[in-house]
Amino acid sequence: MKVLVTGGTGYIGSHTAVALIERGHQVTILDSLVRSDVEVLRGIEAITGSAPPFHHVDIRDETALDSTFEVGAFDAVIHFAALKAVGESVQRPIEYFQSNLSGTVNLLDSMVRHRCRRLVFSSSCTVYGQPDQLPVTEDAPIKPASSPYGATKQMGERIISDVAATGAIKAVALRYFNPIGAHPSAHIGELLNDGPSNLVPYLTRAAAGASGPVPVLGTDYATPDGTAIRDYIDIMDLAEAHVAALERLESVAAPWSFFNVGTGRGRSVRELISGFEKATGVAVPYVETARRPGDVEQVWADTTKVTAELGWSPTRSLEQSLLSAWTWQQRNRWLSTASSPT
Ligand code: NAD
Ligand code: WQD
Repeated sequence: MKVLVTGGTGYIGSHTAVALIERGHQVTILDSLVRSDVEVLRGIEAITGSAPPFHHVDIRDETALDSTFEVGAFDAVIHFAALKAVGESVQRPIEYFQSNLSGTVNLLDSMVRHRCRRLVFSSSCTVYGQPDQLPVTEDAPIKPASSPYGATKQMGERIISDVAATGAIKAVALRYFNPIGAHPSAHIGELLNDGPSNLVPYLTRAAAGASGPVPVLGTDYATPDGTAIRDYIDIMDLAEAHVAALERLESVAAPWSFFNVGTGRGRSVRELISGFEKATGVAVPYVETARRPGDVEQVWADTTKVTAELGWSPTRSLEQSLLSAWTWQQRNRWLSTASSPT
């Protein structure tokens, strides 16, 4: 298939571009580079042997977006382009609604007018908040969003499902849990545009001695070891879930469907620290601190539906993911600062 990957120089988009190319799909990348670097294209080329065509376009710009479709004749879109920092979204909600929602509406408009009928959308486990039951299934109620970012994922799903209901497109939302790690080659990985905000980049930086100890944000949760629990999914497993969604889209009966993408297993912050030490042999300095406001206590996925309907299940171990994150950190010493290499 000819696939347009929006946000394709970003963390999940770049790894998915690799997985798509390796499956023989023709990838075109579109990105405004607001949170990524054009050098990522060289990383993709180093792994796959081909650099995808690149459109430097902001999805808020309807005209430029439409021009991409004029030249592309795409069979499908995988839509990653969005802003994703929860805290920043509270400070700058309008930018989040413009990129994540107006941008998505522009994309849908271009798709419908150019008869591009298949869409895979990046959603998030954030739509569940703190679920009442664990593991969380796709039937769990959507909880009121605790941030503008979370609201954009809920509203994005609603907007896409309404367009799919017209029959103009067939769409799948993948609700990611916590993606971690890097491509094992370390040619691509997670860029830290404004410094790390997620746990694993904090771990790798602290282990490298590039920052102070990792703050363990809360040790008094009602969990076996007192620290919060998440479902950490390897970035290449997540990338392959997109390929599965794309290739199975036609056989999924409903015009709109949504799937959890996780491992089905919850891990605590302490388990991540000890898993990292076991995988790498490197000690992680850490300090126990208070909870982070707004954090949920524990969440992990029920993955029955994604395995049954998309034929996908993860294959990498937590240790493999943490090792690839560590290799990426070591090969890219500039990660030790908040700035990118260029
Ligand atoms: P990322 O920031 O690495 O990638 C997003 C990409 O989108 C960046 O390259 C950025 O430059 C681009 N972009 C942002 N606004 C744009 C715009 N207006 N026009 C064109 N390009 C634009 O983030 P990521 O982790 O790769 O996330 C990809 C998607 O997955 C996002 O939709 C995010 O909300 C979602 N998601 C991420 C996580 C996570 O933990 N990383 C979890 C759940 C869902
Ligand atoms: C993981 C765990 C922290 C940093 C965020 C977004 C969510 C989704 C995924 C996009 C938590 C703990 C963290 C640290 C720590 N993104 N932690 N010390 O909070 O699950 O989710 O990314 O949709 O919307 O909110 O991910 O990596 O920040 O935290 O102890 O320095 O690690 O408390 O339990 P989170 P995270």
